[in-house]
Amino acid sequence: MSDYVQFINGIKRKTGIDLALYKEAQMKRRLTSLYEKKGFGNFVDFLSALEKDRDLMNEFLDRMTINVSEFYRNGKRWEVLQNKIFPLLLQSNKRLKIWSAACSTGEEPYSLAMVLSHHLPLSQINILATDLDENVLQKAKLGLYPERSLAEVPKPIQAKYFNQEEQFYKVKDEIKRTVTFKKHNLLKDNYESNFDLIVCRNVMIYFTEEAKDQIYASFSKALRSGGILFVGSTEQIFNPAKYDLEVEDTFFYRKK
Ligand SMILES: C[S@@+](CC[C@H](N)C(=O)[O-])C[C@H]1O[C@@H](n2cnc3c(N)ncnc32)[C@H](O)[C@@H]1O
Repeated sequence: MSDYVQFINGIKRKTGIDLALYKEAQMKRRLTSLYEKKGFGNFVDFLSALEKDRDLMNEFLDRMTINVSEFYRNGKRWEVLQNKIFPLLLQSNKRLKIWSAACSTGEEPYSLAMVLSHHLPLSQINILATDLDENVLQKAKLGLYPERSLAEVPKPIQAKYFNQEEQFYKVKDEIKRTVTFKKHNLLKDNYESNFDLIVCRNVMIYFTEEAKDQIYASFSKALRSGGILFVGSTEQIFNPAKYDLEVEDTFFYRKK
């Protein structure tokens, strides 16, 4: 058994995370640079250190989950969401069930609330936001961001929903109240059902084809008929019909 396979088995035992479902070359490169920096010579020695050292385990989790995010990431898609997708969804339902899956530090679910606030009062907005990594969920709940995370936020929205605190911007409580954060592993945990909208962006790129296939099938089951899946701008689904999905707009898929 290669030392990476032993490492994968050990991490799965300890954390429930299955690294075999993440693209191998990319993951190995990220983790090798971390263990070398920490002075280890191979994956097996790194694993025994991780089993004893909580801080090192946190650093490992931080390295394996890539947490970069920003508000209104790929701004043009958010215009489509605001002007086409939400009006479409609201035709059949005034209470939308929305899930931001792999939400990282919260920019994505908070952006969803801001965009939807053009159509509904905040008191009627409820967004489920999940991620594998508890550290990012803590940051998301805090809701404090550097200016660069807000580059794509329209100015009136920035003025309405953020308070400036020195060089940081804090999301107002009225927006925070619309989002419920929970820990959830897309590769292992059960999915809720009957969603009107699932947003899952910039995480599928890290998974193997087998893992992607499993997740798309689960998303499809979790959507109501006519519900929408919004994916990242490099994550086009090549065979949407396989999952009972059809293209609604670029990077938006509708469940049949
Ligand atoms: C690059 S961020 C994407 C954040 C946001 N969706 C966006 O597009 O800006 C990827 C996120 O996926 C999360 N992630 C990785 N593997 C996951 C899994 N198996 N289940 C749930 N989240 C996962 C990471 O913790 C990280 O926060």
